[in-house]
Amino acid sequence: MTDPSLENEQKNGSFSVAARLYDGLIRTQTRLVRQTKENKPVSVPNISAIAEKVVSRPERVDALFNEAMFRLHEGDELVLHSVNVFIYSLKLAQGLNYSQDRRMELGASALVMDLGMFMLPQAYLAAKQGDLTPKEIDTIKMHPSLGHDLLSKAGEEYKWLAEVVRQTHEREDGSGYPKKLKGHQIHEYAKILAVADTFVAMTHNRPYRPALLGFKAIQEILHSFKGKFDPRILRLLLTQLTVFPLKSYVRLNNGTIGMVVQTNETMPLNPTIKVLFDGQGRLVDEEKIMDLGQSPFLHVTEVVEESDLKR
Ligand SMILES: [Fe+2]
Repeated sequence: MTDPSLENEQKNGSFSVAARLYDGLIRTQTRLVRQTKENKPVSVPNISAIAEKVVSRPERVDALFNEAMFRLHEGDELVLHSVNVFIYSLKLAQGLNYSQDRRMELGASALVMDLGMFMLPQAYLAAKQGDLTPKEIDTIKMHPSLGHDLLSKAGEEYKWLAEVVRQTHEREDGSGYPKKLKGHQIHEYAKILAVADTFVAMTHNRPYRPALLGFKAIQEILHSFKGKFDPRILRLLLTQLTVFPLKSYVRLNNGTIGMVVQTNETMPLNPTIKVLFDGQGRLVDEEKIMDLGQSPFLHVTEVVEESDLKR
C-alpha cells in the first residue's frame, strides 16, 4: 500500500513527503544531540513518538530508505549517520515478525545509540575524522557506556533501552566492547543496530575512504566480519536491502554487461540478467538470459550507470 499523500506530492514534483520526513528526522536528531551536549536529560517518550510516526506507516520506511540511499550527505556526519542507522535498522526489521511496538522500540534505540559520542570531550569527536591514537580509541570506546548512563536516568521503565545502547558494539564472538558479551547475551535490537551501523558506515563516504556500493559492503561484511554478527540478522541484509534492483545494470567478472530482469530471493547477490554487451563490449542482439545463481564462475563485480552504457 502506498501513502496517497506521498504519491500525490511526488506527482506534483513538489518536495516529497519522504524528503520532508528525512529533514524532520535530521532536525530532531540535531536537537537531541544539542540537549545531550548541554547535559539535559533525554525524553524517551518524545523519541518514541518520532519513531512511531515512521513505523506506524510501513511505506514511510521504504520511502525514507530510498531517500537515504540517494541523499547528498552534508551537515553533521554523526547526526546523519544516526538518522540513516534508524532507517536501515527499520528496513532490516521488516524481515522479522516484529509488532509495531517492537519496531518503535528498535527505532528509538537507533536514535539514542550514539548519544554517548557527544558526551566525550569535543577533541575526540574532531579526532574521529583522522587517525586515532590508542588512547583516543579507548576514549571513543566509552561511548556505549556513557550512553547507557545517560539513558539510565530516564527511569526504571527504560532500563532495557539503556542496556541496548550499551550493547551496540558487542559482537557475537565476544570481540566487542564494553563487556565482551557473546551471542545469546546480546539483545536482538543491539544485534540489528550493529549490522545497520556497520553497513551505513561502509556505504557512506568517510575521510579515510570512499563509500562502497551496497552489494560490495554486503560482500565485505559477509566475508571479512565472519563470526562478528548474528547470521540471522546478516541474512536480513540480503533479503531486505535491494542489492540489485530490477532494471539496474551490472558488469560481471568476464566483462559482460547485463540488465537485472529477476532478483534472486535466496541468493540476492546472484540475480538473473539479460545480456546487453558481451565481454568484448559488443552489443548482443539476440535475447540472452543468464541466471547467475546457476553460473558458479560468474558474479557481479560492479553496478553500471545507464549513462555509462552508451560509451
Ligand atoms: Fe556507536
